[in-house]
Amino acid sequence: MSVSELVPNRVSSGVPGLDEMLGGGFPPGHVVLVTGLPGTGKTCLGLQFLLQGAINGEKGVFLSLEEDVPRLLENARQFAWPVDAAVEKGTLKVLRLDPKETRQSLARVQGDLGKELKSMGAKRIVVDSVSLLNMLSDDEPGRRTTLFALAAACRQSAATTLLTAEADPIHPEVSRDGLTEYVADGVILLGYRTGNDGHRVGLALRILKMRRTAHVRTVQPYSIGSSGITVDAKAVDFGGP
Ligand SMILES: Nc1ncnc2c1ncn2[C@@H]1O[C@H](COP(=O)(O)OP(=O)(O)OP(=O)(O)O)[C@@H](O)[C@H]1O
Ligand SMILES: [Mg+2]
Repeated sequence: MSVSELVPNRVSSGVPGLDEMLGGGFPPGHVVLVTGLPGTGKTCLGLQFLLQGAINGEKGVFLSLEEDVPRLLENARQFAWPVDAAVEKGTLKVLRLDPKETRQSLARVQGDLGKELKSMGAKRIVVDSVSLLNMLSDDEPGRRTTLFALAAACRQSAATTLLTAEADPIHPEVSRDGLTEYVADGVILLGYRTGNDGHRVGLALRILKMRRTAHVRTVQPYSIGSSGITVDAKAVDFGGP
């Protein structure tokens, strides 16, 4: 992460190597799905994206369905990011959408969330995860309505958004619901690389789609360390998701 990574008309992901694959960063206002199996770094990528915004002086909102606010912040503090400074400054805000309060959470997403996000001046939004949001609805039409309402709220706010989703365990190249891919402007797939013996030997990333920009389509390895995710955009011949 650094301020020097700023490219005009692009929103830096905060992930070294990924911006390069995207031709400088995300197109502003995009709603991008980040999908992957457990432990592939979806939450980490979301936080890193917001912390890059905080470094640039942009406000970011993390809508957490998976973890409560203290646990999420504790998670973020493991990395060498200025988390507490960003919270204090108001450039990072964590909101909890509690899956236990199903009705209130759904009403908020389908109601004034867009206005709420806009009034906060959010330039970056992360929703972690839409898989949990989907579980709040009992049926397919309900899931569609909620997902469309969420995407509309994020677009209304004019922020650039990352939605995380659990990958389908049998077909990990698609999300569990198989819906968000169509709602999103872009899809980034995080996954495990397996060796010849079928064992997991590392992590690899692929950009499946990104509207309004040329992007790299190859599978690139990445690692998670104390500074978060780093993608090796130069590596060649990698198998993966
Ligand atoms: N401080 C750290 N240093 C290095 N690696 C870390 C650190 N913290 C977490 N990790 C790695 O990141 C992984 C978790 O990433 P993250 O929680 O973002 O995954 P996720 O895709 O959101 O998982 P889930 O689907 O379970 O929510 C851990 O399994 C671990 O390998
Ligand atoms: Mg997670």
